[in-house]
Amino acid sequence: MSHAKINILSVVGARPNFMKIAPFVRALARFPDEFTHTLVHTGQHYDAAMSKSFFRDLSIPVPDVDLGIGSGTHAEQVGKTMIAFEKVIQDRKPDWIVVIGDVNATCACSITAKKEHIQLAHIESGLRSFDLDMPEEINRLVTDRLSDLLFTTDSIADANLLKEGVPPARIKRVGNIMIDTLEAQRATAAALDLTSLCTAFALPGASHPLPPLKDNRYCVITLHRPSNVDDLDILAPLVTFLIEEVAPVLPLIWPVHPRTRNTLESSGLWKGLQTAPGLILTQPLGYHEMLRLTTGAKVMLTDSGGLQEECCVMGTPCLTLRWNTERPITLREHGGVSVLVGNDVERLRTGFREAASRPRTICRPPLWDGHTAERIVACFKELK
Ligand code: UD1
Repeated sequence: MSHAKINILSVVGARPNFMKIAPFVRALARFPDEFTHTLVHTGQHYDAAMSKSFFRDLSIPVPDVDLGIGSGTHAEQVGKTMIAFEKVIQDRKPDWIVVIGDVNATCACSITAKKEHIQLAHIESGLRSFDLDMPEEINRLVTDRLSDLLFTTDSIADANLLKEGVPPARIKRVGNIMIDTLEAQRATAAALDLTSLCTAFALPGASHPLPPLKDNRYCVITLHRPSNVDDLDILAPLVTFLIEEVAPVLPLIWPVHPRTRNTLESSGLWKGLQTAPGLILTQPLGYHEMLRLTTGAKVMLTDSGGLQEECCVMGTPCLTLRWNTERPITLREHGGVSVLVGNDVERLRTGFREAASRPRTICRPPLWDGHTAERIVACFKELK
């Protein structure tokens, strides 16, 4: 047993990382005699609504280092991150680098860590969509192959890693760290008023007043996957379906991701959305606001992996606009709330009718209990 502190450097880059790092930072801070911690933000996401608001709302400390990488092609983002991160490693000399999730920052920093001979730990390991057209699948494969400690959310993830030949001793099933944040924040989220929230975040230019909003009487949509939003042949029919078949039935709240907004505006689809009765377009929401919407939605339509998981714990029927998922534990056939509908309007129509008539059913996989960060820190303590 060593008395030296373990020097941990953890990395965040994009929105889905922020709610996952918050509990880990807090859990580490409880043992100041055992750990030193450096937080690095690669800057992949940089808009206040995509980044800073999460640090503020979840009380995440200001990053010690911000690489300021910004947007770009995949090679630009990964390459620039590696160049900048290598200098940080050489300067800070961590014992461990901790990466989270599957964004470009995760992959770039994993490669750099191992080339600098630093031990690597991955939170949210073992998720597989088996779809190499997804940039995230490449990031997951590379990160897991290089990791020394692989923290998993569920038994399916463990099985994926074992099949790939990962030594069992490296795999630590700890549960879902994002649910730590959900449990810590759900009361704050629940206290938000739906109408005030939508009024505060609504984008200007809507031609209709806000429809009345009541729990279980509205739907939410989020779209940001390149496979849904970069190709107009796919996006345009989805938009028509939302305008003609969802918003007239139940008010539909759409927090618009910047990638999606770019396509909608440049293609001319934006105008039709602004003038659609029952549709509420908003800027990207903060953590509490999004959780508030998830809590009361009749149906969630989404291509986000994180929302699939949050819907399970909140019991919200979820239509996942993808053909596959790296999170099968969220699917109805595995006891979850989510149904894969791809981006085919016919499947979406059938799925929407079914989901809108389904009651809320809370599904909580084992260890999705709000204590995952404590279990991760306990694993690091055992290394001493
Ligand atoms: C990234 C992640 C994805 C994650 C998503 C959550 C990768 C490969 N993808 O996708 O896994 O689900 O984040 O949001 O890492 N932009 C802004 N402001 C910002 C950030 C982005 O305007 O703060 C715009 C830029 O036009 C940018 C585009 O959004 O080019 C896409 O951003 P990028 O980080 O490349 O990927 P995401 O689609 O956000």
